[in-house]
Amino acid sequence: MLAVHLVSSFFSKLQEDPTKKVDRFLYAMCLHDDQLSDISTRFQAEMKKGLSAESNAAAAVKMLPTHVRCTPDGSETGQFLALDLGGSKFKVLQVKVREGMRMRRGGVEMEEKTYPIPRELLEGRGAELFGHVSESLKDFLHEKNISLEKKHPLAFTFSFPCEQSTLDRGLLLSWSKTYRARGLQGKDVVQVLREAIDKTGGMHIEVLAMVNDTVAAMMTCGFEDRYCEVGLIIGTGTNACYMEELCHVDLVEGDEGRMCVNTEWGAFGDDGALNDYITEFDRDVDAASNNPGKQIFEKMVSGMYLGELVRLVVLKMATLGILFEGHVSDALRTKGKITTAHVAAMEEYKNGLKNTRGILMDLDLTPSPDDCVAVQHVSTIVSFRSSNLVAAGLAAILTRIKNNRNLRTFRMTVGVDGTVYKTHPQYPKRLHKVLQRLLPECQVRFVLSHSGSSKGAALVTAVAQRLASQKRKVDETLSPFRLSSEQLQLVKARMRAGLEAGLKREGPSEVKMLPSFLYSPPDGTEHGQYLALDLGGTNFKVMLVNFRKGLHQSSQVLHKIYTMPLEIMQGTGDELFDHIAECVSDFLDYMGIKNDRLPAGFTFPFPCEQTAIDTCKLVSWTKGFKATDCEGNDVVSMLREAIKRRNEVELDIAAVVNDTVGTMMSGTYEDPQCEIGLIAGTGTNVCYMEELKNIKKTGQKKGPMEREEGKSGREENKQEDGTNGETEQEKADIQKMCINTEWGGLGDYGSLDDIITPSDVEVDHNSINPGKQRFEKLTSGMYLGEVVRQTLLDLTRAGLLFRGHVTETLKTPGIFQTKYLSQIESDRLALLQVRSILQGLGLDSTCDDSIIVKEVCEAVSRRAAQLCGAGMAAVVDKIRENRGLDHLNVTVGVDGTLYKHHPHFSEVLQETARVLAPQCNVTFLPSEDGSGKGAALITALTRRREEM
Ligand code: BG6
Ligand code: BG6
Ligand code: GLC
Ligand code: GLC
Repeated sequence: MLAVHLVSSFFSKLQEDPTKKVDRFLYAMCLHDDQLSDISTRFQAEMKKGLSAESNAAAAVKMLPTHVRCTPDGSETGQFLALDLGGSKFKVLQVKVREGMRMRRGGVEMEEKTYPIPRELLEGRGAELFGHVSESLKDFLHEKNISLEKKHPLAFTFSFPCEQSTLDRGLLLSWSKTYRARGLQGKDVVQVLREAIDKTGGMHIEVLAMVNDTVAAMMTCGFEDRYCEVGLIIGTGTNACYMEELCHVDLVEGDEGRMCVNTEWGAFGDDGALNDYITEFDRDVDAASNNPGKQIFEKMVSGMYLGELVRLVVLKMATLGILFEGHVSDALRTKGKITTAHVAAMEEYKNGLKNTRGILMDLDLTPSPDDCVAVQHVSTIVSFRSSNLVAAGLAAILTRIKNNRNLRTFRMTVGVDGTVYKTHPQYPKRLHKVLQRLLPECQVRFVLSHSGSSKGAALVTAVAQRLASQKRKVDETLSPFRLSSEQLQLVKARMRAGLEAGLKREGPSEVKMLPSFLYSPPDGTEHGQYLALDLGGTNFKVMLVNFRKGLHQSSQVLHKIYTMPLEIMQGTGDELFDHIAECVSDFLDYMGIKNDRLPAGFTFPFPCEQTAIDTCKLVSWTKGFKATDCEGNDVVSMLREAIKRRNEVELDIAAVVNDTVGTMMSGTYEDPQCEIGLIAGTGTNVCYMEELKNIKKTGQKKGPMEREEGKSGREENKQEDGTNGETEQEKADIQKMCINTEWGGLGDYGSLDDIITPSDVEVDHNSINPGKQRFEKLTSGMYLGEVVRQTLLDLTRAGLLFRGHVTETLKTPGIFQTKYLSQIESDRLALLQVRSILQGLGLDSTCDDSIIVKEVCEAVSRRAAQLCGAGMAAVVDKIRENRGLDHLNVTVGVDGTLYKHHPHFSEVLQETARVLAPQCNVTFLPSEDGSGKGAALITALTRRREEM
């Protein structure tokens, strides 16, 4: 009593400022920004703990995956029943999401009825509670004249922590708020609901999705604002959810896209994380609650507890004589006598003090005007602390999203619901202001969920339905790209037939099978300095290659790379060869060897009829080249003429080879088993060593490695037998010749029509050589991006992508280069990065769009690799059969940007070849120095022969 008197007299000195004494008394509840930032940081740590598989079991904040993978895009439609259980009201609803209304208001129509839940059911047996729920549902169907015969999809908002393994399965972890019905913890509440509906009988209900109220609030608002990726409830309880990157959600398999995570932040502090912020009043509220020790943060924040906190503070102050001159009424001592509605009324802008007085008088108290000011201030501090704590929690969530997405500033909408937020006059303003202070870099908009969470729950169900149907349609579009093993076997057989027909030369063949006049592999004794001119698919490389004498398999390569401008590639022949001559001259200058007249090998990666190693009549341009006056002409002569025109350097072009041949030769230098050359780059092609006996003579006069202009020392020895005037021993050695298959032409007479998709047809139509190189157009870097783009266009037109907007960017040919495909398909890339690549290309995509784009890229590049694998299986089996072997070990020298830089291409190609040619053991040897080194080797070989 004495203590009360002393405290009372101490405070009487401050009587003139009643708010000050409250401030002092509730000092611990007045959180300043540093403390809020600290709480926010702690919550971030809790989120991380909850998301990680290792620490989740011990985490207080459960971070529950919801299996909701995207927010509405406005295209959802349908008619749903909905149950909304767990907030202050239990409601049954009918929700119609109208077609064609998209993002406009009025797109959703609702009818609803609130059903009271008797208190004994909240605390009774779970089965009875759900019996009541299903009886209410049946009553609703009757009342609204909804057919009992028809099947109705139902969405269930259930606002308690549930462990969900799918959208329609959720084990109740624990009750919170006013609920504590027995026998449901650990049970699948969707199943319990289904059983209850069955038991009630007489209805056809399909429970499709169960969602937390936060998720439903986010979805409701997301329907009108696509930036809404956070849901917040400040009602009877409090909680928040947000869209997390799936790769961070350890508890769910897969790392593509996002998933909404129900944080269950009400449990923040259950492990003591907030102990230093907890006051004696919080402890008292907790001790007297349904669930002591649980939902600590919720008890500091939510509507179920705010009134009680105010009551306990006022009671304590009165007991200490600071209020009502020490008078305490029985009503004030009674739990629940001050509610959140009272708190809101006390803080009303104009009538707040009057309301406070009325409320206190109803509690049988006789407050002085100062008492009223003080109690109103208590209420303000308690509710202000609530909004401050919510702001700290939200700041943590938004910071996490910001970091996930690697953003410095961003814009986010929070969908919010709950009686506290909706009815407390100051709450929203305070919350927004504090959040802005805590997170100035984030522009946050709050959108109130006017129609409650049922609309959102219906949308989840609609989204689930839409996604399932969208996935079906995307799969349908992509299915022609997904080749069966039978189809791949067929492609192998057709390639084999193409190889045979080409060799026979009895008429035009899809696969040209061009002799290269290269008979023998390098033997390691090659030496000297050579120039190599390597006209690749992506650039032109001039190289100086030095093979060291006596040092077996040792070479040194110096090179310079020159770009090949489109206007040169598609200008006149003279311009093209003048450009090449200019680059060569520049290189010789650069190396200081302008006067050395080194022998040169020329890699010319196009189909050519060769009659000797240094003659090369271009059959037709492929890939991006279309220079005029070249087709039908000898490109070596054209180059020699260009060099002559330039009149600066002299060049001794000793050999001209296809890039596959150069690549094979490079490989053979390292591995004698290398008898195949493969290019998977801008174009695609293969060469291999074929038995001479299988090569139909084309009337060629020139022998191995022999030059048309007769500079060869062996010219006099030319024979009509397709070899040359070799010795008997040499003849025995020369049994094979390298054939440039030009397999890119497979399909040019229709043999691939059954696997060609509409996108392939478009790509072919829009190419510079329609009807030609059909296999190449399905498999090589120059075209894969275009096939992807055409497929994306189709999907967009079908409304399955980019919200159905066909943008100018998407219509731009060439925006998808192979390098983007490689980047997008990289396993190391999070979906967000895929999205930023697409955005970099001018394609404004959502995360769901990114998933589809990645799927398209994968389907297109996988098919390409499989087709090349099938082609390779045909080649290796042919070599094996040529030699009458049961088993063949062979090495393939490989080059090309697609093979080297695509994350999966090489693996899929190799696997396909392995499966389709099980009797061959094929080793793939990527070329280190490009095919130029091989061209130099061939030049060295040519020279060696001449010197002999
Ligand atoms: C309602 C939603 O509007 O708000 C419910 O429809 C939600 O799903 C509720 O649980 C939360 O607020 P309160 O104040 O009713 O608990
Ligand atoms: C290079 C070779 O490494 O690869 C060229 O040196 C070849 O000769 C090229 O044409 C093929 O790849 P891409 O991707 O440039 O067409
Ligand atoms: C409680 C529940 C939670 C719900 C929240 C708001 O915290 O545990 O699931 O979202 O109340 O209703
Ligand atoms: C094209 C050319 C071919 C070349 C291939 C790879 O298919 O026609 O000669 O080997 O591209 O560059």
